[in-house]
Amino acid sequence: MLSSPDFPLTNSAHSDQILDLMSTLIDYRRQDVRQRMEKVWRKASMLHVDVLLLIYHFAKVCIGNILEIGPYIGGSTIAAALGARESGARKKIVSIEAGGRLKHPRLPSRNIIKDLKKNLARFGVLEDVTLIEGRSAHESTKSAVRQIFGSGEVGLFMFDADGNPRRDLNYYGDLLVNHCWVTIDDYFGPGMKAAPIRAQVDEMVAAGRLVPLGYYGWSTWIGQWQRQ
Ligand SMILES: C[S@@+](CC[C@H](N)C(=O)[O-])C[C@H]1O[C@@H](n2cnc3c(N)ncnc32)[C@H](O)[C@@H]1O
Repeated sequence: MLSSPDFPLTNSAHSDQILDLMSTLIDYRRQDVRQRMEKVWRKASMLHVDVLLLIYHFAKVCIGNILEIGPYIGGSTIAAALGARESGARKKIVSIEAGGRLKHPRLPSRNIIKDLKKNLARFGVLEDVTLIEGRSAHESTKSAVRQIFGSGEVGLFMFDADGNPRRDLNYYGDLLVNHCWVTIDDYFGPGMKAAPIRAQVDEMVAAGRLVPLGYYGWSTWIGQWQRQ
């Protein structure tokens, strides 16, 4: 059984869920969807292909809708939109992006919002996504999200933005369904973002608000939300 500060000796249902997720990912790696996610990675994502595959999977199986903070030029959003579409159910996807420009070595952008829309269109999912331009903590963003989602309506929450996932979970947490899938990037790493993110996530795990299910890719924390 897994044991560490983040994975205390837990019940076997929790361990089974961790192992199920690992074997689900191995299955996806052998399917055609892997090639599609590799293409998404090449054109539009900083995340590891394994994380894109898991986002695709969560979007496909989740009960409810999808809320994302920090799509950049769209990789994670496209993975979620394809998963949601292939679930056969209608799921709303809301993605919040601050915009601006970024000098990234592989995927630079001089206009993030413009490139985001271009990539969503390129992968045929532009119409599936409601894009909110602005920072997640701005009042206008918060009210725009609340006009779309009510309490307990979000089944997948993705955070890949600045160093403050707790701020957004404090604010948007009531919109999440119990056991909502949660992905939080930059849990590990030498960058400025990782230390506060890790501290915040560990604190929310200790408080019983987040349940850890693994670490994937380069630095992504995967788990579930626990409504209180
Ligand atoms: C690491 S990138 C996201 C990468 C993306 N998920 C992918 O698949 O490659 C972070 C993005 O979050 C945006 N961002 C940072 N803080 C934000 C905030 N508080 N609200 C909305 N967007 C934010 C940045 O503009 C940037 O585009």
